[in-house]
Amino acid sequence: MIDENREVCLCFHVPLGKLLKFYRIRRLNVPSDFARCHGAGTGCGWCVPHLERLFEQLQRGEAPEPEMTFEEYRARRAIYHREKKPMLPPSADADGALDIDLDEIIDRVPDDMKLD
Ligand code: FES
Repeated sequence: MIDENREVCLCFHVPLGKLLKFYRIRRLNVPSDFARCHGAGTGCGWCVPHLERLFEQLQRGEAPEPEMTFEEYRARRAIYHREKKPMLPPSADADGALDIDLDEIIDRVPDDMKLD
């Protein structure tokens, strides 16, 4: 028996049961539609592949099967958070001047987010 109280999106505390009900009522077309269910998947991004897997299982008419225990799920998310590095410019020198290569920073911005 699957635990429907088990949270899938830990950022927004969205349990599996809510996602299942949302899927049934809203007839989702793509996994990202889960975002309309209390913001599932729109925080750190950890749960996105798990939401995609859940969506695929439901599309095939299968009962959702967790890949791991909840404790392992939470532990892996903690590792994900630790290893995910934000793209920040280098910190200021003690002398005050910033050594920033603006072109390098702009190159890191995804094309669809660049302004003309
Ligand atoms: S755990 Fe779902 S967005 Fe962070």
